Amino acid sequence: MSNTILVVGASGFLGRRLASIRADGKVVCTYNQHPISGLEFLDLCDPLQLKRFLNRFQPSVVLYAAGLTDVDACERNPDLAWRLNAEAASEVASYYGVKMVYFSTDYVFDGIRGRYREDEEPTPLNVYGRTKLAGERAVLNINPRNIVVRVSGLYDSIGIKGQNFSKVFQPTEPIEADDTRLSCPVHVEDVVTAVRLLLKSNEGGVYHVAGPDVLSRYEFCQLVALRFPKMPPVTPSSSSSRQGAPRPQNSSLETDRISSLGWRARRVCDVFSPFPTENERSQAASEDFHGVGRNIEALLIDCVGGLLTSRTWLPKDEHLAEIDRACADVTDGQAFWQATGRALGLNGTELIALQERIAFRYTPNPPVWNNLKTLRTRFRLALVNNGSSSTFRCWVRKYGLDRLFDVLANSEEMGLRKPDSDFFFRVAEQLHTPPDRCVLIDDDLGNIKGAQDCGMLGLQTHEVRGYPLSVHIWNESVIGQALLAGEVS
Ligand SMILES: NC(=O)c1ccc[n+]([C@@H]2O[C@H](COP(=O)([O-])OP(=O)(O)OC[C@H]3O[C@@H](n4cnc5c(N)ncnc54)[C@H](OP(=O)(O)O)[C@@H]3O)[C@@H](O)[C@H]2O)c1
Repeated sequence: MSNTILVVGASGFLGRRLASIRADGKVVCTYNQHPISGLEFLDLCDPLQLKRFLNRFQPSVVLYAAGLTDVDACERNPDLAWRLNAEAASEVASYYGVKMVYFSTDYVFDGIRGRYREDEEPTPLNVYGRTKLAGERAVLNINPRNIVVRVSGLYDSIGIKGQNFSKVFQPTEPIEADDTRLSCPVHVEDVVTAVRLLLKSNEGGVYHVAGPDVLSRYEFCQLVALRFPKMPPVTPSSSSSRQGAPRPQNSSLETDRISSLGWRARRVCDVFSPFPTENERSQAASEDFHGVGRNIEALLIDCVGGLLTSRTWLPKDEHLAEIDRACADVTDGQAFWQATGRALGLNGTELIALQERIAFRYTPNPPVWNNLKTLRTRFRLALVNNGSSSTFRCWVRKYGLDRLFDVLANSEEMGLRKPDSDFFFRVAEQLHTPPDRCVLIDDDLGNIKGAQDCGMLGLQTHEVRGYPLSVHIWNESVIGQALLAGEVS
């Protein structure tokens, strides 16, 4: 037996990366329809060629990333799906002395509940899922020390399968993305790291290798859009409008087994970080910025709901009116949400789900994000926000806001529904900045009133991308004037 690793399906989206699994030793890689120099031709539909191929290279480890992976094509060609996803995999795993890593999918689950663990019974909804499950079982029956790696939606830094993000440089093409089905996108490099770890640990069985975020394709595109400000607006679409094989609604995966080996996948907002690095930040801070920023140190910004994002989803109008009526006398955030829950007849879990739904259905506003990135290189930034802490934390998690803002101040977390006169002073204190060296940029009447109550001077309110932007200062600061002059807005 040679010490050869065989990557079957190395011309595919995942397989290409697997070719780099080992720096030393022999790695043989295969293609079928898409020739790549240095790769060997293999047709898994031809059992005789497969046998000869295995005899020729005598692999000790096989990474099986080949298959019929187009879900609708599997439905149309169940025999081919069966051959590639199950039968051929079983023949490879049966080769003498082979340790097999078989790549499978979150689509083995029905998606009714989500957050599936490895030991849960799969009930696939379509041919793709059924043939992949059959492949898993065959490979593990042959040798329980074989490994099944179930991955969720794969992406890399330049695209997803069949769609390069460079499309973002053609802003005329609108992007439509499903906003109903949830999965845990995972970067292909993180999958490669997991496979290296599994081979080293000599473990066997099923492993879920998925990212830490549970996102719809629409939400995923939103996060990518923050990195590519020229990306055309992404519009949400619904899975009910599409034809084809049924797909799971929520195929998110728990990853405790692989995590216990020390594996961590990156979050989407880390891979596509829209923020300048610390280096870029300190470099910009050391530059002379037309005199602006010399006597100002911090910007207090409340624009999650308005500037930073644009509202695309809210409860229906009649619900909003009901909420307004129910909360007329409510003064703090906690009570506001309790009253909202009562008015809409929601229990505690449903209420949190509503808050998270609201937070996740806000889309980013890329030009404003870009602007914030620039501001961040020069000033300390605090995010000042009213309302539900759960919604706020959802935003923070979704966009990685803790890395953009130096201070995150949420009124509910401070025991308030709206900021009192003390609010801004407390934020300034957390920023270690004297209040008179802060500027408040706001689009929220509640904040603006709070700012005026505590003696801040409203410089001007003007429209920025459809939102009334109010600039408040404690004195006639240079940055306040510059914002109004449009230099840094
Ligand atoms: N992509 C995802 O988001 C995703 C999500 C969940 C699970 N997965 C799983 O991850 C694994 C890899 O997926 P992928 O997206 O990288 O797949 P892919 O891009 O569709 O690649 C499939 C590979 O199989 C090869 N292949 C197809 N027919 C073959 C044949 N008759 N003989 C030999 N090779 C053949 C293809 O070769 P040619 O291209 O040269 O024809 C290609 O290299 C699969 O097991 C899939 O189920 C992927």
